[in-house]
Amino acid sequence: MNERTTPAIELIGITKRFPGVIANDDVNLTVQQGEIHAICGENGAGKSTLMKILYGMQAADAGVMRVNGAEVRFSSPTDAIAAGIGMVHQHFMLAGQLSVLENVILGSEPVRLGRLIDFGEARRHLTEVIESYGLSIDPDDLIDTLEVGERQRVEIIKVLYRGAKILILDEPTAVLIPQEVEELFANLRDLKASGSTIIFIDHKLQEVLEISDSITVIRRGKTIATVKAADVTAGDLAELMVGSELPTPQTTESTVTAEVALEVQGVTVLGEDKRPVVDDVSLSVHKGEILGIAGIEGNGQSQLIAALVGTGHLDAGSIRLLGNDITRSNVRHRREAGIAYVPQDRHEEGLLLDAPLWENAMLGHQTRSPFSKGFWIDRAGARKRTEEIRQEFDVRTPSVDVTARALSGGNQQKLIIGREMTSGPAVLIAAHPTRGIDVGAQADVWSEIRAARSKGLATLLISADLDELIGLSDTIVVMFHGRLVATLDPAEIDPRTLGSYMTGAALQTAGGQE
Ligand SMILES: Nc1ncnc2c1ncn2[C@@H]1O[C@H](COP(=O)(O)OP(=O)(O)OP(=O)(O)O)[C@@H](O)[C@H]1O
Ligand SMILES: [Mg+2]
Repeated sequence: MNERTTPAIELIGITKRFPGVIANDDVNLTVQQGEIHAICGENGAGKSTLMKILYGMQAADAGVMRVNGAEVRFSSPTDAIAAGIGMVHQHFMLAGQLSVLENVILGSEPVRLGRLIDFGEARRHLTEVIESYGLSIDPDDLIDTLEVGERQRVEIIKVLYRGAKILILDEPTAVLIPQEVEELFANLRDLKASGSTIIFIDHKLQEVLEISDSITVIRRGKTIATVKAADVTAGDLAELMVGSELPTPQTTESTVTAEVALEVQGVTVLGEDKRPVVDDVSLSVHKGEILGIAGIEGNGQSQLIAALVGTGHLDAGSIRLLGNDITRSNVRHRREAGIAYVPQDRHEEGLLLDAPLWENAMLGHQTRSPFSKGFWIDRAGARKRTEEIRQEFDVRTPSVDVTARALSGGNQQKLIIGREMTSGPAVLIAAHPTRGIDVGAQADVWSEIRAARSKGLATLLISADLDELIGLSDTIVVMFHGRLVATLDPAEIDPRTLGSYMTGAALQTAGGQE
């Protein structure tokens, strides 16, 4: 009598090869109707590839796909959309100067030649989608004025507008702050309640356990297990994923010295409207110290970092590196003087996606050994260094000659970390260093940073991962509305309290403590 319902998705024996790699090796995946199903696994395990195959972006070499019981063959995302499948990519594909409504229309059905867009009808349909799923967004807002979490919501709305009942999200929480993650999860629960099926990829195991019904673990291209979230712990998942226990960042004994490596005095950056986005910020990072900056995105962190590394401007104040004034130095001079930089957006600032790994490994360091011999690029030296980075930072790739685009997201991040850490820096400015990397590799990055710290590296750490921030930092400062508003001892603070400082709530009760 307990009639089994047809699964929403069945992938059977999916295999996908790239030169030198089997990304998916006879993978099976079954997703039930109306469930939230997480896909977990270490970097390069084949998660994104599997989702791209399901969304028609890539063709499998072998295997069968069924949607709601019927076998399908997709030759493009248009086919997948027609079958009711939508995907939200990690890098949003929205036009900043256009409104929400225009973006949603642009992203939907190709406009047939000679057919005018019926804006009235589109607006009516969009409003219906927004209301029926309980999502809050104004169709007339410009994308550029929206927060990251809101942009993601637009991407989800775009997919729903096109009629998707099965949603795929690739690492949706990686770019979100904790409060936005909660909103996203509330949205996903509502979607589920209205009958949608959701598949998502996530490296944060606590989040996976919180939101999903089922979890499939993929390892080296193969399905390891599908489990019920209620039946497992984060430790069990880590064990399934990487075959070891869940690491946690822990504060180790202090290596902070009296010597200042980076000194920032009264730095102010004015925005387009001439109001300060960075407002009179002063801080110093000592040799052997990790100074964490906590703050909700959009409180001036990006502009502060840009002023420090030299990619952005500064309207007042000074920056000293190892005692030398670098306030007016260009990016190249700052790098040569010992600043290493892990950028927030690895695609925009960190990598040349279509250049080989060995070229990417010398980005920003071209003028130095082992990459240059006088005037010439030293290819052999560059390749050798890239091999070393690959070994030490476990960058999974068949060769250092593939393009950065061919690496999985987490492995791209590991390459950047490796490049920056091996450049022998005096100061490391790291924005979300472990974003998108799996729990095992995360532990490796943490220990690399700690080892460099004990040898005198001064680190400025910006992270939305509050456990990471608390676990690694010697001191935490809170940035709010462009200003540093509190200095906290990580040994005495928990993520929840830190979160309330970040939103300004704790400041009011503490009476605007400085
Ligand atoms: N376009 C491509 N060309 C060549 N190799 C690729 C390409 N796309 C993916 N690969 C390789 O396939 C394997 C699986 O990559 P995939 O992006 O699916 O991993 P992932 O599980 O999503 O990892 P991450 O957690 O780091 O995002 C990796 O070894 C990757 O280098
Ligand atoms: Mg991926």
